[in-house]
Amino acid sequence: MSYPLLEIKDAVKHYGGSLWSGQRPVAALQGCSLSVHGTPASITAIAGESGSGKSTLASAVLGFVTLDSGQVRFMGQDLATMDRHLRFNYRRQVQAVFQDPYAAFNPFYRAGHLFDLALRHFKLAASHQEAKDRIADALHRVGLSTADLKKHPHQLSGGQRQRMMVARACLIEPKLIVADEPVSMVDASLRSMILDIMLRLRDESAISFLYITHDLSTAYQIADDIHILFRGTVVESGPTAEVLGQPRHPYTRTLIESIPAPDPARRWNAPLTTDWENEHTEPSTDCCFRSRCPEAAEGCPHGIPGLSPISEGSSHQVACWRANTQR
Ligand SMILES: Nc1ncnc2c1ncn2[C@@H]1O[C@H](COP(=O)(O)OP(=O)(O)O)[C@@H](O)[C@H]1O
Ligand SMILES: [Mg+2]
Repeated sequence: MSYPLLEIKDAVKHYGGSLWSGQRPVAALQGCSLSVHGTPASITAIAGESGSGKSTLASAVLGFVTLDSGQVRFMGQDLATMDRHLRFNYRRQVQAVFQDPYAAFNPFYRAGHLFDLALRHFKLAASHQEAKDRIADALHRVGLSTADLKKHPHQLSGGQRQRMMVARACLIEPKLIVADEPVSMVDASLRSMILDIMLRLRDESAISFLYITHDLSTAYQIADDIHILFRGTVVESGPTAEVLGQPRHPYTRTLIESIPAPDPARRWNAPLTTDWENEHTEPSTDCCFRSRCPEAAEGCPHGIPGLSPISEGSSHQVACWRANTQR
């Protein structure tokens, strides 16, 4: 039996809330499920507004937060039940690139320090020469040179720092890189350079990506598959061109319509945003989009609609009671 590279099953995560203060918990993930395929390597985007639970999902995959319920599975193995050996292997196979590359560097050390640490931790080189070769190769893949290793973090540009982080992630030869908004802090030309690097790593190094973004345009550019996240739930998913070309969920349509298409300068940098992004997220027992849905009909049943294929056997899935009646 072959498993997806990464599988998230019914992930639920709440933050805060206490009986004493009467505060209600914030539901960051509410039954979120998705998979990332590794053969062939693929780029899977998670797109959603700020507060939709994207970073919580990334943290759960990286083992920084524990889910209330649900599972993260890597090649069929549940992260929660991995023994030390499997977990060590998992930490090597799954690397991360974050929005703010500066935060990952220790300002007192030269950039090369991070590379040395990674090689030593994972015992990846048998000799000094092999270590040097591996580092040079990783830097080459992102268009940097070994001279940059001697610099302190503040001597690198934002784009160089982010490319260093990508190089460090590939040095370890992972199967998956979790990239949480990796290009939202860099300017347009660097953005496309980093997106190109991701495509090349997919094609030439067989590294898959969980690409988290609040920007549909970059997802459209590079992602093979996309999952649209709304309040901790995937409301639509499938091949990116299909989901964004023929969106079936009213929320996906709202997001696409909110992109100012005629203005190319904004188009590539338009965050997903509607008026309700910062609303308090309470655990829901009904369609999470019901109160906002421009198409909700009196006839929509109560309860949470599950993701289901738009037609038999389709990989394009939508969680909407009216998926087969609307339009
Ligand atoms: N450590 C935390 N403590 C309390 N609430 C949190 C914490 N992290 C995230 N949240 C809340 O969980 C929800 C999802 O947040 P997050 O996963 O960061 O979303 P995104 O990355 O899509 O912006 C938000 O309502 C956010 O305020
Ligand atoms: Mg985030």
